[in-house]
Amino acid sequence: MELQGRNVVVTGAARGIGAALAQRFHAGGANVVVADVLDPNPVADGLERAIGIVADVSTEEGNIALIRAAEDAFGPVDLFFANAGLALGVDLTTPEEDWDLAFAVNIHAHRWAAKHLIDGWLQRGEGYFCSTASAAGLLAQIGSAAYTVTKRAAVAFAEWLSITYGDRGVRVSCLCPQGVNTDMLNSDIGGGTDVVRAAGDVLEPAEVADVVADAIATERFLILPHPEVQQYVERKANDHERWLAGMRRLQARVVGPG
Ligand SMILES: NC(=O)c1ccc[n+]([C@@H]2O[C@H](COP(=O)([O-])OP(=O)(O)OC[C@H]3O[C@@H](n4cnc5c(N)ncnc54)[C@H](O)[C@@H]3O)[C@@H](O)[C@H]2O)c1
Repeated sequence: MELQGRNVVVTGAARGIGAALAQRFHAGGANVVVADVLDPNPVADGLERAIGIVADVSTEEGNIALIRAAEDAFGPVDLFFANAGLALGVDLTTPEEDWDLAFAVNIHAHRWAAKHLIDGWLQRGEGYFCSTASAAGLLAQIGSAAYTVTKRAAVAFAEWLSITYGDRGVRVSCLCPQGVNTDMLNSDIGGGTDVVRAAGDVLEPAEVADVVADAIATERFLILPHPEVQQYVERKANDHERWLAGMRRLQARVVGPG
């Protein structure tokens, strides 16, 4: 999809990867809604064709209100980028409310947004849903059960959406990075971000946004800013037992016993 003249919503765009995506899409000619539960205006104010919307995507109502506000500002949404995410939860002792919030933001938000966009997209014969999952959604996040599970669900949901609506004009992409230099990575998840750093290069958000823009131009489903993730996924598929044993060694070395 060409970005020029398109109406784009990016959630979790007050900082980090989302802010870089908003800036990159704007540079590509899009009208951009910068949405976040934090103040999005420092990012939106720096862009000519953008508005900031304070939106909490952890509820269905929050997603509905965001979509309505975006439509009021620019018209129908062409590309919705469900990027907001939380690195929440460690192990089996993680409180229920943290599990609930991780599910709400990391996966239910994607489902709620799609639910309230799909009819318009099918009527118009086109629409683009993109989500930020993680390499952890294809592999695992050592040190965080909730992150692993919810990001795996995000990948599965994006696949399902593509399978179900891909032949009716709805394009879907799923961003699965490893380490990116943001507040999330630097705040650590159960010691697991040491693993992320050990696994490969830590990219800057703007580098990730460039890879995403290329993938959207060619409408590629799986977006891997760290190409080595493809290899890890293949190794996992080829020998699950060996992959699990390797992950246990990594867990023991970097995080310690569970
Ligand atoms: N940084 C990494 O290494 C990395 C790697 C893989 C995937 N990711 C994913 O990338 C996405 C962006 O993360 P980031 O690294 O830029 O982290 P970040 O913490 O800098 O940004 C996440 C943004 O999401 C917003 N957000 C959280 N809950 C929200 C809610 N309920 N409603 C609206 N906004 C909400 C936050 O306010 C924040 O601005 C996340 O989905 C994250 O899981 C990050």
